[in-house]
Amino acid sequence: MVVVGTGIQAIAQTTIGAQSCIAEADEVLYLAGEPFARHWVASLNPRAESLSPFYDGNRHLLLTYGLMVERILRGVRAGLRVCAVFYGSPAVLVHAAREAVAVARSEGYPAIMLPAVSAEDCLLADLGIDPGRRGLQSYEATDFVLRPRPVDTSVPMVLWQVGVVGDHRGGTYTQDALSALTAVLVDLYGAEHQVVLYQAATLAVCDPIADWLALRDLVQAAPSSSTLLFVPPNLEPPIDRAMAERLGFDPAEVSSLAEASVSLYRDIGARVDPGAAGRQPLP
Ligand SMILES: C[S@@+](CC[C@H](N)C(=O)[O-])C[C@H]1O[C@@H](n2cnc3c(N)ncnc32)[C@H](O)[C@@H]1O
Repeated sequence: MVVVGTGIQAIAQTTIGAQSCIAEADEVLYLAGEPFARHWVASLNPRAESLSPFYDGNRHLLLTYGLMVERILRGVRAGLRVCAVFYGSPAVLVHAAREAVAVARSEGYPAIMLPAVSAEDCLLADLGIDPGRRGLQSYEATDFVLRPRPVDTSVPMVLWQVGVVGDHRGGTYTQDALSALTAVLVDLYGAEHQVVLYQAATLAVCDPIADWLALRDLVQAAPSSSTLLFVPPNLEPPIDRAMAERLGFDPAEVSSLAEASVSLYRDIGARVDPGAAGRQPLP
């Protein structure tokens, strides 16, 4: 069994390896977002079958995912070459994908998952965020609210599923949960902190959307289910000058490093959206 992702933009972001797995499989089970992506998967392999009929608003999501896993495993147990296809990366927040691989392996069947382009990969490219510079923290929004943890506000943060925070049945998102999330963020960063509601383009002909807003306006903005929240840092960790000396940096280099730190997040808005150039600069 092979589990693959289409990337956020099917075709443009689907690897050649994933495409050939889809085309060559005896059975293809897919959960792909856009109608275009669904048609494309079906055009690659006429035996493709959608997993979306398993969604039922009255059922707990974990039960729905369990039924999907059983459907995927049916062909594997019958000795077929099965390819399960999900949108984005199957490795990110796709419970059924991870579980299908684990169950298949536990029953002795060979199963692999191929890497793919996730919504966060698109965000990093579109917003020009390099996780190698100040790190990156990435949380699922409901988990972030349910399990309070120390947050380093000098590290940029991505929150997944802000548009469906608190949802555990599929479509039961409440404004109350978004208010709870906003309150946690306001405690950490302050109500005026500027954040980005980001939507990666799902079609090559569309542009990504990056809307800047203050945290206090997050509930009112009512993010959609296909949104990531990017929270820029609100402080810059100072350079440890003794460590810099120990590592052999000369004082002039250390000063220029400190200077570069200050400007790191200032121009993100201008890079993403020409209309943002006049907006408030980041701290
Ligand atoms: C169940 S997760 C699936 C993530 C997917 N496997 C991936 O690799 O991006 C769904 C969440 O991914 C994010 N997401 C999905 N599509 C997106 C898009 N086009 N732009 C921004 N975020 C997106 C949203 O946070 C959404 O609630």
